Formats: sequence, C-alpha cells, structure tokens
Amino acid sequence: MLTIRAETAEDFEAVRRVNESAFGRPDEARLVDRLRGVRPHVSLVAVEEGRVVGHIFFSPVSIESQARGVAAMGLGPMAVVPERQGGGVGSRLVREGLEECRRLGCGGVVVLGHAGYYPRFGFVPARGKGLRCKWPVEDEHFMVLELAPGALGGVGGMVEYRPEFDEV
Ligand SMILES: CC(C)(COP(=O)(O)OP(=O)(O)OC[C@H]1O[C@@H](n2cnc3c(N)ncnc32)[C@H](O)[C@@H]1OP(=O)(O)O)[C@@H](O)C(=O)NCCC(=O)NCCS
Repeated sequence: MLTIRAETAEDFEAVRRVNESAFGRPDEARLVDRLRGVRPHVSLVAVEEGRVVGHIFFSPVSIESQARGVAAMGLGPMAVVPERQGGGVGSRLVREGLEECRRLGCGGVVVLGHAGYYPRFGFVPARGKGLRCKWPVEDEHFMVLELAPGALGGVGGMVEYRPEFDEV
C-alpha cells in the first residue's frame, strides 16, 4: 500500500537517495536539503512497505506585482525512484501536495516541468496568465494552477523562486 505523508527528520537520508536516483545526480537532493529551512514549505513523502519511494517539495515564490496576501508556491523538486516511475506515485504526490498548499491558504502553484505531465492536474501555461519565468525556458514548460478561481487574478510579471534554486 502506498501512503503519502509529511516528511520527518527520519526521512531526510531516504529522500536524498530518492532524489539522487531519480535525477541521476546529487544537485536536486542538495537543493532539498537547503530548502528545508524555508518557511512555509510543503515536503511530502510516498512510502510503500516502509520504504520511501517518492518525494515532492513546494517552496514559496514571489510574483513581481504580487497583491498583498496572495501567496504562491513553486512545485519542485519532485522525484520517484526509477523502478516505481509510471505507476501513479508522482500523481498522488502532486494531488496531495496541492491539497496541502490549499490548506496553507496558498492562492496558486507554479511549476517548471514536463508540458505533457502537469496539465492533467489543471496546470496551464503561465504566460497566458501574465506570469514569466526568469530562466530561459520554453513557455509551455512554465505552468501555473490557481487553487481557487481567480486567486491569482490581478497578479502578474516575473515569478521568483527562492535564491536556493540559483545554486542548481
Ligand atoms: C516526473 C516523475 C516525478 C513522475 O512520477 P511518476 O510516479 O513516474 O508519475 P506518474 O506515474 O504519476 O505519471 C506517469 C506519467 O508521467 C509521465 N512522465 C514521467 N516522466 C516524464 C518525463 N521525463 N517527461 C514527460 N513525461 C514524463 C509519463 O509519461 C506518464 O505519462 P502517462 O500517464 O501519460 O503515461 C518521475 O518520473 C521522476 O522522478 N522523474 C525523474 C525526475 C524528474 O524529472 N522530476 C521532475 C522534475 S522536478
């Protein structure tokens, strides 16, 4: 059985291994280690038979013309161990992570990722909502999801991830 729950300090080592095996390099695991100091954040693990097989992290982003009180989060990194990819673990992590962001009172979530993956959760190209990514990426890869209708209405411009991302 697959369980999704909040990460605890006992999971840190396992989460490092999940990120390293999914990405094939240590960069994202190190990024997660740095981001844990950021408040608020959402860090969930997927556990199967006592083993951590997936992980997702959300950290706050700022939006250039941010109206007061409109909080947005950035999804990522997210990782599932190679032997469990394609089995729905990632989808569970995304859905429960979005729910947790909603509970925190967050208005929306942005993601920089596969254009064929995130639209199934309701993400749309961020450019269409007037949001830009500071990194040089194709428009279709930078996406946004409003967690309540109109929650990001009136905000626009450059979206800034936490400075910890600049080190990757
Ligand atoms: C991306 C990732 C987290 C998805 O987790 P998962 O458990 O495999 O996802 P699910 O089983 O819920 O969904 C599988 C779908 O994701 C798609 N997918 C997975 N990796 C993909 C990739 N690199 N590019 C495009 N689509 C991808 C699969 O094609 C599949 O699509 P389908 O349902 O239309 O067949 C996982 O594949 C992974 O860890 N990849 C390596 C690390 C990574 O790229 N992380 C995301 C960037 S932060």
